[in-house]
Amino acid sequence: MGSHHSTRRTLPSATLLGGALALLAAGCTRIDGLAPVTTQGDAVHWLFMFELGLAFLVAGAVGCAVVYAMFKFRDRPGAPDPPQIHGNTRLELAWTGAPALLLVLLFVLMVRSMSTVEAEAATSLRVRVIAHQWWFEYQYPELGIITANELHLPVGQPVRLELESADVVHNFWIPQFGWKKDNTPNRTTHMNVVVNEAGTFDGACTEFCGTQHAWMRIRAVASPPAEFQAWVTRNQRPAQSSARGQQVFQQNTCVSCHAIQGVSDARVGPDLSHVGSRTTLGAGVLGNSPDELRSWIVEPGRIKPGALMPGYPDLPEDDLRALVEYLGGLK
Ligand code: CUA
Repeated sequence: MGSHHSTRRTLPSATLLGGALALLAAGCTRIDGLAPVTTQGDAVHWLFMFELGLAFLVAGAVGCAVVYAMFKFRDRPGAPDPPQIHGNTRLELAWTGAPALLLVLLFVLMVRSMSTVEAEAATSLRVRVIAHQWWFEYQYPELGIITANELHLPVGQPVRLELESADVVHNFWIPQFGWKKDNTPNRTTHMNVVVNEAGTFDGACTEFCGTQHAWMRIRAVASPPAEFQAWVTRNQRPAQSSARGQQVFQQNTCVSCHAIQGVSDARVGPDLSHVGSRTTLGAGVLGNSPDELRSWIVEPGRIKPGALMPGYPDLPEDDLRALVEYLGGLK
C-alpha cells in the first residue's frame, strides 16, 4: 500500500509531463495553420494570402507617399508659405474610388471562397461532432460507429461534419483543416471538408468552456480509403478482450456511464468500444499506456480536475489490473 500511495502523490506532475512528452514524441502529428490539407482550407488560405499581399502593397504605397511628402515639402529656412489649396476633385475621387474598388474586389473573392467552403457534396460521409465538457464525441450514423476524441476520416472523400454541443458553447478547430466553427447547444452547424493528404492532424477546443477547456484536444487521422475502410470494419464489430475485466467493468459504476459494444450502451462518458486503439486518454491529457490508463481510473479528478468521471481509488488491485487489461485490449 505504501508504494501505491507514493505513486499517487507524484502522479499529477509526472503523468502530465509524461503525457506531454508522449504527445510530442508522437511526432508525426502536425499543427500548421498556414498549410491547410483540405480543399476548403486551400480556398480560405488563398484568400488570406491574397489579402495579406494586398494589405502590404497598400501600406507600402501609403508609407512611401508619406515619407516622400515629409522630405519633399518640409519647411526650409526663409521659404515662403506654400500655395494654399482647397479641394482637388480629381484626387479626392481617386482616393475614394480606388479603395472602394479594392473592397468590391475583396467582396467578390470572399463570396467565391465562401461558396467553395460551404458547398455540400451529395455523397458526403456524415459525422456528428458532439462537444462535451471536456471531450469530443464522433458518431458516424451511416456506419453505425461511435467513438471519442480521435476523428478518423478517409482521404479525398467529402465529409460533412455536423457540429453539436451537449452542454455549453465549444469550438472545433483543427488548424490544418483551414478554418473553425462553434459547437452550439440546441443548434447544428456544419463544416464540409475534403481532406487531401493522409496524416494525423491535431487540434483543440478554442472556445472557453470551463476548467478543462485546455484539455479538450482533437486528433484527426486521415487515411487512404482502403485503410479507412479497415478502420470502419474493425470498429463495427465488438472488440474481444479479457472476460474477467469485463466483469469488473459491469460490476462497477463504469457501466452506467460508458458504452461498450455488446456490453453496455450508456452515453454519459466517451464510448469505450475500441478505447485500446486510441493514442490518448482524457481528450489528450494522457497517453494510452497501461500505467496511464490505470492512473486515470484511480483518480481522474487529480489528472483533470473537474472531469465528471469519479475516481476508483478503492478498487481491489486484482480488479484494477483486470480492468486495465480489459480496456487496453479493446482494440
Ligand atoms: Cu470545449 Cu473549450
